[in-house]
Order: sequence, then C-alpha cells, then structure tokens
Amino acid sequence: MLKENLEEKLNEQINAELYSAYLYQAMAAYFESEDLDGFANWMDIQAQEELSHARKIYDFINERGGRVKLDTIEAPKTEWGSSLNAFQDAYAHEQKVTGMINDLVDLAAQENDHAADSFLQWFVDEQVEEEDSVNTIVQKLKMVEGSGSGLYMINNELGQRTMPAGEEQADGGEQ
Ligand SMILES: [Fe+2]
Ligand SMILES: [Fe+2]
Repeated sequence: MLKENLEEKLNEQINAELYSAYLYQAMAAYFESEDLDGFANWMDIQAQEELSHARKIYDFINERGGRVKLDTIEAPKTEWGSSLNAFQDAYAHEQKVTGMINDLVDLAAQENDHAADSFLQWFVDEQVEEEDSVNTIVQKLKMVEGSGSGLYMINNELGQRTMPAGEEQADGGEQ
C-alpha cells in the first residue's frame, strides 16, 4: 500500500501534469492565433505527452491500492507576446516540475518505497529530456532575435514533430 503522504504528493503530481497539458495547450492556441502553425503543432504534441504523464501516475496510484483524487486545475495565461516569451515560460515550468519530481523521489526514499522510487526514475529521465528540448528551442529563438525569416525556419522545423508511435498507449497501459 502507498503511504498517505506519498499518495498525496503523487496526486499533486497528477495535477501538475494536467496543468502542464493545459499550459501547453494554451500556448498552442496562442501560436495558432499568431499563424505559427509549426509552433502550435509542437505544443499540441507536448500537451498530449503531459496527459500521458498524468495517466502514468493515475495508473500507478491505482495499482498500489491508493486513491486518485483530482483537484482544480489552475487556468494558464492566454497571451505571451512573443515566441521566445512562451518558450522561456515553458522552460521555467519544466524546471519547476523537475523540482517536484526530485522531491517525490526524496520522499519515496525516505519512506523506503522502492516501487515508487523505481516508478519515479522514468520521470527523472523524462525531465532531463524535456528541459533539454525546450531549452534548445529557447536558444534558437534567441539566436534569430525575432527575425521573420528565422522564425519561419523554426516554425517549419517544429511543424515536423510527430507523436512517437504508440506512445500514448504505451504510457497509459505499460505500467
Ligand atoms: Fe510531464
Ligand atoms: Fe513536461
């Protein structure tokens, strides 16, 4: 059985992942409004990935005999002013989520919950990737300094992103 404090923190993490999905979907909508469909595509996929993260934790709590409790999801912003602003916000958000995951790993260790610790390692690795991919885009946006042709190229590049095959199912059903 899951310890109560760990269950509570995992439920908070479900909320954080759902908020991440909401935030990135709001960014996708912002990019749509700016006719930057490649940026919007990238954020659309990012939002779906965050939903799959929430689902992973949802399944884990249930498998461990815990109780999932869904809470209010905070409303994200709607405007960012520039692509760079949006991606800088996304980067700051991912750093915050990494901190939450690290706290969860500490708690799992403190409670001697090896199963939770093992489960959370996937998220530790995932956060390294997430921070890196978002920061790479921040750096590119800084390089082009808002130039139209630079943005056009990055928009084309981000438009190529596709959802990894079977990812949603694998994330939801594997654990
Ligand atoms: Fe996530
Ligand atoms: Fe994320």
